[in-house]
Amino acid sequence: MFKTIEYIDGVVRMIDQTRLPNEKVFVDCKTVEDVGRAIKTMVIRGAPAIGVAAAMGISLAADAIDAPDFDAFDRELEQKCEALGQARPTAVNLAWAIARMLRVARENRGLSLPGLKQRLKEEALLIYEEDISANKAMGNHGQTLIENGQTVLTHCNAGALATAGFGTALGVIRAAVNAGKNIKVLANETRPFLQGARLTAWELKEENIPVKLITDGMSGFFMRKGDIDTVLVGADRIAANGDVANKIGTYMVAVLAQKHNIPFYVAAPVSTLDLSLATGDTIPIEERSTEEVVTFNNQRIAPENIEVAHPAFDITPNELVTAIITENGIARPPYTESLRQLAGKS
Ligand code: MRU
Repeated sequence: MFKTIEYIDGVVRMIDQTRLPNEKVFVDCKTVEDVGRAIKTMVIRGAPAIGVAAAMGISLAADAIDAPDFDAFDRELEQKCEALGQARPTAVNLAWAIARMLRVARENRGLSLPGLKQRLKEEALLIYEEDISANKAMGNHGQTLIENGQTVLTHCNAGALATAGFGTALGVIRAAVNAGKNIKVLANETRPFLQGARLTAWELKEENIPVKLITDGMSGFFMRKGDIDTVLVGADRIAANGDVANKIGTYMVAVLAQKHNIPFYVAAPVSTLDLSLATGDTIPIEERSTEEVVTFNNQRIAPENIEVAHPAFDITPNELVTAIITENGIARPPYTESLRQLAGKS
């Protein structure tokens, strides 16, 4: 099994997701700026993996600070945190992990500088370990929703590559397979960045989980034919009312699922909940470069000077979401109540 991210001897090593599936190469980040660049350029992506990378990045930032007292250390660390927080806007795990690291630094202001740096390294590793455990717990809860012999449609990549390991939506599939269920996966290719074609297809194939790749426009066709039993996706941010931000195209799949009476499940750790937002309307949606839309395999596929839009995420309203699977249990509507309860369990 590959490692998405590792923290070894002052280096944060990531599998380069921009080069998969053709090449399995690694990127070594030695500074918080390197980590910020890796997040921005999608070397590492997926909400929980971004959070883990950020925590490790803050530990690298702390290691590089040489300050006479805690206040000077804190000022410098806060600046690094602010800069790293700009890397990508939609996945709340980025801000969540940074806030946790800063809080831990402040709670330990009495430690010596080397002690504080060591404490922050431990916290980053704890965030990494907790993410894997959360995914396994999510898998155990979620697999009860999937029956033997079912075909599951997924969108984007919510797998081991998008987390510290095991995955959220793909973690649920892994857990179902581990429980002895015969599961088939249909993977939407996920235009324009092709996380489904490049990453989900690769990741599932590595483990011999049956997967068939389709283009995004095919999901309705297969639902109407009765070939899809369940939809299972991850999330980048979930508002208090259960509105879900996820990869562009998710909303379209959710509407189709409702039309065909197919359950639409979201798997996400509580670190992806943003209960400070009442609804999904105020979740910031990342606009990515139009280059990603007008090129395919480095080849231009649209006329020069064409007007292009590229929102990288959309919002699926809560009424289309059958259930939200977290490490603390499964939330059902009304989400304002159920999510608050599950978030309080951590
Ligand atoms: O732009 P990306 O690849 O970071 O988008 C990732 C997604 O939308 C995933 O579905 C989401 O982060 C959940 S990952 C467990």
